[in-house]
Formats: sequence, structure tokens, C-alpha cells
Amino acid sequence: MTELAKRRFDCLVIGAGGGGLRAAMQLAQGDAHVAVISKVFPTRSHTVAAQGGMNAALGNVVPDNWHWHMYDTIKGSDYLGDQDAIEYMCRAASRLVIELEHFGVPFTRLDSGRIYQRPFGGQSQNFGGDQAARTCAAADRTGHAILHSLYQQNLKAKTHFFDEYFVIDLLVDDAGYVLGALALNIETGEPLVIQAKTTMLATGGAGRMFRTSTNAMINTGDGLAMAARAGIPLQDMEFFQFHPTGIAGVGVLISEGVRGEGGYLINSQGERFMERYAPNARDLASRDVVSRAIAIEIREGRGCGPNKDFVYLKVDHIDENIIKKRLPGIRELATRFAGVDPVTDPIPVHPTAHYTMGGIPTNRFGQVVAPLHKSAEEPVPGLYAVGECACVSVHGANRLGGNSLLDIVVFGRAAGNHILDFLAESRYHRLIPDDCIERAMQRLLRWQRKDGSESISVIHDELRLLMEQHCGVFRTQEVMDQGIKKILQLEQRLQHAVLNDHSAVFNTARIEALELENLMDVSIATIISASQRTESRGAHSRLDYPDRDDEHWLKHTLFFKEDRHLEYKPVRMKPLTVDSFPPKERVY
Ligand code: FUM
Repeated sequence: MTELAKRRFDCLVIGAGGGGLRAAMQLAQGDAHVAVISKVFPTRSHTVAAQGGMNAALGNVVPDNWHWHMYDTIKGSDYLGDQDAIEYMCRAASRLVIELEHFGVPFTRLDSGRIYQRPFGGQSQNFGGDQAARTCAAADRTGHAILHSLYQQNLKAKTHFFDEYFVIDLLVDDAGYVLGALALNIETGEPLVIQAKTTMLATGGAGRMFRTSTNAMINTGDGLAMAARAGIPLQDMEFFQFHPTGIAGVGVLISEGVRGEGGYLINSQGERFMERYAPNARDLASRDVVSRAIAIEIREGRGCGPNKDFVYLKVDHIDENIIKKRLPGIRELATRFAGVDPVTDPIPVHPTAHYTMGGIPTNRFGQVVAPLHKSAEEPVPGLYAVGECACVSVHGANRLGGNSLLDIVVFGRAAGNHILDFLAESRYHRLIPDDCIERAMQRLLRWQRKDGSESISVIHDELRLLMEQHCGVFRTQEVMDQGIKKILQLEQRLQHAVLNDHSAVFNTARIEALELENLMDVSIATIISASQRTESRGAHSRLDYPDRDDEHWLKHTLFFKEDRHLEYKPVRMKPLTVDSFPPKERVY
């Protein structure tokens, strides 16, 4: 094999969203030699699309404390979240919001000058009492503000950026050490070996598995698939969140912040139907509850429009000045993608694929932990994961809105600190054996083939439709089993695909093929994990097993790619310093 270009760093961060950038900043400020590699320009990472805000019990609007936040997060997770990690996250939240403020995030203000906080779904005061207001917002562009601030902090700290490079695979030696990654310069098509003492996956979720999605085109589960190829199991993949309010037929996100500001859902009869499904929290019940309610309204014939296939989100009763000040982006999106001005007309909405709760198993220091070649779970040497691609697990079976921006900042920082400690004791890079580079190169070379009968884009579209039809808001054994069969056939067809026409000119065709392979692996992990869990919990809702079954299913799923088998591990019910919250019936 011809010698490939090679670069060497203390730490390689794969992905430039909020989790990757928060970790990289910590590392660069700690004098580590850190590189961030991203398939898009960093400020185009999907964190930029987060709208509503970031949770922290600052108590600026109504009384609040982190312990209530912890309770809400555990209840929201339908008791599948690990309580030690949840305590860690909720305790850290207030400090990290203030830290972001100091980095330059332009949070919306109260008249008092304090950070404005809006109510979001599943939030309560006093362990299930009145609605809390815990979500710190920069209007409805909070992710945008955070991402840009973190990027600037990284530039200042001299983080090295590889922009528009696609990571083909991790480099893993026979002893299981992760030694860096093989990447492709998208512009030139040149491969590049990046050697690192530690490698961090921060590649975001896999929301493009589904046809209608709030996710950017880039969310193809690349890090999840890389981990799976390295023999690391994927955890809790059956728990995929459908956001209640994507613009109907389009999928563009309409923030939960709209309901936080007083917007509410109505059906074709003008009925405020959430009152029936969640008598206390109503439109601010947790997302799984609201999404199911909308799906039931539509299924029972109370949908709106000529095809009765969406419901309306009513906003026009809210003061126009509030809409202009706190929801300017929503107004723009509704006007552009739904053709309605929410100041005067309701927005047509439908549940839309939004967030991957499962992912690469980690501990609260961001270390990837897996039963690899050993029987017991241990850290995978050299490998970390943070953000949506990771499963720490603070979201369990259903994430609360506003907890994802918090997750990336808390665990990005924690992982950065852990790596700094590791680097203090690790002076040398391990050698990269040639065969592990060759293995990664094979993945690229496969797509040089010229013959084949199948099209990447056709398979891509079919996959996303199948996932939507067979692994959506409501599931049954029969429907999922049919879906698995069809998706495995699709996987076979992918073996016979050739690059789309523009391949001669742009590397993007190769990237599309590599992304589709990743998406295929993640979809298979998702639907197989879902088909085996015979209960309903959080976002995994089965018509044939409508109840939660703590006796048999209060446990995490682990999906192994190699032989597609599943194992299970216990939920960590013990918090760090406070009493645990035992499972109880979840009502809103
Ligand atoms: O609805 C939203 O603004 C989304 C927030 C989130 O997913 O945390």
C-alpha cells in the first residue's frame, strides 16, 4: 500500500457539534494538542438547529432546584436513565449555563437582567408539583448561539480543525486499542491517517433513518456505525424520540418553546385534546406522551386538513411582541415551510423523528465502556464518546426537551477533563500496525467499483420509508418483523449498488454511499432492538404490549453488530449522593 499522509495529535475529536467542541475546548485550554475533524464546516453541525434551550435549575422565573430537575429527568426517562449520571448532569447544569454566558452566549434576558427561562415539557417543581420554568433560551436559536460561542472559544484556544473531512473508520489494533482514525479529504479525495492517544466520537445522532425528520442531512449515525464495526455494542437503540411538532409533511422543527410560551394543540374539532391525555401538564407533558396523543387523534379521524393527517399548533392568541422577541425563528420557519404566519394562523404539525436516545455506551467521564473481548464491561482503551451518539444514559427511554444541549456541555467537559488526566500519564503514541489502516481503507476501496445494478439514492429513500412505516411512534411485533425482513433485503441490495452519477466529479457520491452504509447498520440495530423489547416504555410504544414491565424490562439493551445478538445490562438506580427514585406510574 502506498504511504498515506499522516498527522499526529494527543486527542482527535470526531464531530464539531456542541459536545465535540466543548470537549475540544477543555483539552486545548489544558494545553493538549487537539484536532477536531468534521464532515461539514463546524458551525454547520446539527447543534446549530437546537431551538428551545438548555435546562438548568437557576430558578430565575419560578423557584427551582437541581434535585427537582433530576426527578423530572428520571421520570421523563421512564426510569431507564442511569441515576448517577442524571444526578451529575443536573447538579452541574447551573454552573455550566453561567459559564456559557461568560463565553458569550447571548441568552434572552428578564427585565431584571437575569437569564430568561421558559417552561418546557415534563418539568415540575417539588417532585411532580406545579410547572417549572427551567429552560434557558437565546430566543429560539439557542443551539446556534452556543455552537458559535464554543467555536470561537476553540479558535482562541488554538484547537486544530480539519473541516470537510469524512471519517471512514476508527483505527483499532488487535489488542482493542483505538489509535485514531482514517479520514477522507472531501475536496481532494485524499485519505489521511490521524494518529491520536485518545479518540472521541461526537458525531451526533441518526435521525436521517426516518423519512420525516427534524434532523439535518448529515445525521447519518456515522459514529454509532464506526463503534459497531469496532465490536462495541449499541445501547438502547429502540428508544428513538419523535418530536410532537414537526411541520406536517416537511418535518422542520417547531420548538417545544412554542408550547412553553403558551401555544397549544387542537384537533379538527377545535378541541384542546391534550387535556384528555395529560390532565395536569397538558401540552407540556413529555414528548412521547404528546406524540402518541397526536398520532391517536389522527388515527381516530380527528386530524385536520383535507386528508385529516395533522393537527394544529395554535399560537395566534400569544402577544405578537412575544412571538417577535422570543420565537422569531419559528415565525420565519412557519412562514417559509408551512406558508402560515403564526401571528394570525395555526401551524400544521405532526410527530417527526428527532433524537437518538440510545447510542455508544459510556460512563459519566465519556469513556466508552463495553464487554469487548472480555466478559465484564470495561473502558475501551483510547475511546470516548459524547453527545447524541453516546448513551451515558441520562435520557433513558425518553429525553426531556432542553436536556440535550445540557448533556453535550456537561459530558463534553467531563470527558475533556478525563482525557487531560489520562494524557498527563501517557507520553507516547502507540504504533499503528499497517493492517489496521488497510482494514479501514477497504471500506473506501469498495466504492471504487464500477458495476452494479442498484442506486444509492433509491436504497436510501426506501430505507427511510421502511423505518418510518415499521418502527415509528406505535409498533407491533408483526409490523417490526416485516420491517426487519425488508431492511435485511435492502442491505443485500446495497452490496450491488454503484455510486450516483455525479461520482466522476464530486466525492460527495462516495460520502453518500458511506453514510448510507452507516445508516443501514444503525437502522438494523434500532429495529432489531425494538422487536425484542416486549413492553412499552417511554418512546418505545407497542400496541401488542401496552404496559411497562419493570419486572422483566428495567434493563438496558446492548446490540452487537457482528452476529446481531442482544444482551442486557442493569440500569444504575443508585445516584451519587441522594436517595434513588424508584419506578412508579408515570402520569402527567
Ligand atoms: O423543541 C425544541 O426546541 C427542541 C429542543 C430539544 O430537543 O431539546
